[in-house]
Amino acid sequence: MRLDRAASIDDLRRRAKRRIPRFAFDLVDGGAESERNLRRNVEAFEEVLLTPRYMTDVSQIDTRATLFGQSFDAPFGMAPIGMLNAFWPEADLILARLCARENIPYVASSAASTTLERLAEAAEGRGWFQLYVSADSSVTEGLVARAEAADYRVMMVTADVPAAGKRDRDIRNQLAVPFRITPEVLIQLLANPGWSLASLRHGKPSIANYANLLKSATSYADVQKTLITPGFTWDDLRRLRDRWPGRLLVKGILHPDDALRCAEIGCDGIVVSNHGGRQVAFGPPTIEVLPGIADALGGRIKVILDSGVRRGADILRAKALGADFALAGRALAFGVGAGGSDGAKRAMEILKLELVRALGQLGASSFDSVGPSALTSPQSGR
Ligand SMILES: Cc1cc2nc3c(=O)[nH]c(=O)nc-3n(C[C@H](O)[C@H](O)[C@H](O)COP(=O)(O)O)c2cc1C
Repeated sequence: MRLDRAASIDDLRRRAKRRIPRFAFDLVDGGAESERNLRRNVEAFEEVLLTPRYMTDVSQIDTRATLFGQSFDAPFGMAPIGMLNAFWPEADLILARLCARENIPYVASSAASTTLERLAEAAEGRGWFQLYVSADSSVTEGLVARAEAADYRVMMVTADVPAAGKRDRDIRNQLAVPFRITPEVLIQLLANPGWSLASLRHGKPSIANYANLLKSATSYADVQKTLITPGFTWDDLRRLRDRWPGRLLVKGILHPDDALRCAEIGCDGIVVSNHGGRQVAFGPPTIEVLPGIADALGGRIKVILDSGVRRGADILRAKALGADFALAGRALAFGVGAGGSDGAKRAMEILKLELVRALGQLGASSFDSVGPSALTSPQSGR
């Protein structure tokens, strides 16, 4: 399928699947264990119904959203994704530049395959930094200091990885550190020559921010120990709040009490997220827990939602249920996989056109004006 015939994010996903070796496609497409959470994330959005209202003037539609003092052209940004260059060469830079052009936030992952400094430059003032808290506090401090020096104003600390997710597809694909070319991988590489040549040209992707620290890593466990810690607690969050001069968000919140605690500590916002279904299979879809969290917070701090956004209307569903903003992870990543820079552009175009169309059909002339009254079955939302 040609890119311009791709009608939906799902079409782009299918195109990406055909162009990318299975082990690399699964790395992004897969979820935890049975992948129930991954599937439910998408399905749960479809359960949220909005009732259109007609004969309101929607000849001008305003999709802008203001967050942390900055006005963005659309109410969503790119979620942090680690090692994305393994999915498509230069994927990080392609997406950071796209976000800069579209005037939306780009969240640079701690585990990105491009350094946070290069990504800050590419995102031209729209970059936010996502932090993983390491077991080694000097590693964490090193990243925070670099993010500060690179002029990031928003830092998002990820809370939902006390233990790494178990992703059955990656186990079956025998993904290992250091990466080994098994006979099966070789067959997949030969079957996808375009991807293989492009990857060869750009060199083996690494977790760039930790390149020196991971030089001697010989197992996935070594990598995990450097990146994340099961010992991350509320006290650490308090220390980060004292340390970080900019806006501080916590990503991975699923319970109203945790959200309230973030507000009490002085965070500026939370990301209601289940890591796109990559952490646990047993947890709730984010759109289902959003209303309770938004109610509890009552507007004290900003609420951003991710996990399962595949349609423009999903962003309106999230708004109606109490979110201020959304992040898209795989939706934009699939675009890159479907066609590099042009594919990313197509994914962005699809989401934006769907968003504008859905606003018009809903009878809302601006994103800001969408609220709980748009819901067919009013649930608690703000
Ligand atoms: C391949 C992949 C890698 C990810 N890496 C990170 C990461 O490094 N840090 C992080 O906070 N979240 C990470 N996430 C989670 C995303 O930030 C986001 O929460 C998720 O993709 C949202 O779900 P969606 O893909 O359905 O939009 C990753 C997600 C994927 C798919």
